[in-house]
Amino acid sequence: MLLYALLSLLLPVASAQLHSLAISSGLQYFGTATDNSELVDASLVSALSNHSEFGQVTPGNSQKWDSIEPGPNTFSFAKGDEIAALGKQNSQLLRCHTLVWFQQLPTWVQNGTWTNETLIAAMENHITTTVTHYKGSCHSWDVVNEALEADGSFRKSIFFSTIGEAYLKIAFDATAAADPDVKLYYNDFGIETPGPKTSAALNIVRSLKASGTRIDGVGLQSHFIVGSTPSREVQIANLESFTSLGVEVAITELDIRMTLPSTAAQESQQTTDYQNTASACVAVANCVGLSVWGFSDKYSWVPSTFPGTGSACPFDENLARKSAYYGIIAGLVGGSGPPSNAVTGANNSPLFFELNSTTMNSSGALLGSVRPRIYLLCVGAFIFV
Ligand code: XIL
Repeated sequence: MLLYALLSLLLPVASAQLHSLAISSGLQYFGTATDNSELVDASLVSALSNHSEFGQVTPGNSQKWDSIEPGPNTFSFAKGDEIAALGKQNSQLLRCHTLVWFQQLPTWVQNGTWTNETLIAAMENHITTTVTHYKGSCHSWDVVNEALEADGSFRKSIFFSTIGEAYLKIAFDATAAADPDVKLYYNDFGIETPGPKTSAALNIVRSLKASGTRIDGVGLQSHFIVGSTPSREVQIANLESFTSLGVEVAITELDIRMTLPSTAAQESQQTTDYQNTASACVAVANCVGLSVWGFSDKYSWVPSTFPGTGSACPFDENLARKSAYYGIIAGLVGGSGPPSNAVTGANNSPLFFELNSTTMNSSGALLGSVRPRIYLLCVGAFIFV
């Protein structure tokens, strides 16, 4: 018995990769965003298609309104379809992103002359046509993205300015009507710690539910900065403030940027930061999955969006695993264990190896220095049995 118990503990570690470990830890997926422009890169596609590593994909841009409906009632699904097809081929869940957002809107929407009625009709048409097209392909839809300002007030988007707060309910209802099976998410950044914006996001969940509208989940984007990410405990309590309302949560766009050039100290901190977010999700019963916003620094949105910063992803520009990768692994494996020790080498558990680039090869398999320890444990267990 003990032998089997030990092996069941060891086997997931021995084939340690992000998605497989996420599943072993009770999550539904570990995933990543990707974009069409990256798919010409054969090495990128090969790494992305490793299902043990990535069990979920999110189109980074190609399901946004400007891409899907560039002209009124003129739909263009080719790019979104390309990513949906790749995900399907790889048996990866598709997080569909996003139906109603104030950015990346086509000019006809952003600069149109709207009344309450005409904008509701355009929004409903966009949602119904898009959700119907992807029906059966999407695990979830980010129905509304980033509706809130930092102070918790509603962002003065074309939707809020024209329709008012009711646009959220209308958007969720239209999505639910077009696909009764897809999970409906509200997705935002800056809701990873308690504060006015998080309180407002909680209120969105409460008021949609109170009005009889279905909302299944909240996506916490988690675009973090090295050294100023919330602690594991704060993230757990914050995630639970959402799940206590009867919705699931997911970490939807995780990346942790640093000031360039990167330093060993920043990389070490980043490893701890990644570990804390991964282990926080594992610790929360209804945190269903964890997605990074691009897995490689080669294609990250960070350097162009936040000049002077970068190195935010778990894989470097050569698609090699960084220390941050092993931070995620440790968070997924460690669950509620003490943060950071497993990757810094100060391991304090006999089953917890130094999971770093000296103990795992490029495909994530454990290397020599660890194997004798597994062997000794197994032999010890066998003698005991
Ligand atoms: C980003 C993309 O990654 C960039 O390529 C694009 O130029 C801007 O949008 N929050 C979101 C994502 O919900 O859709 C954003 O994606 C990043 C912030």
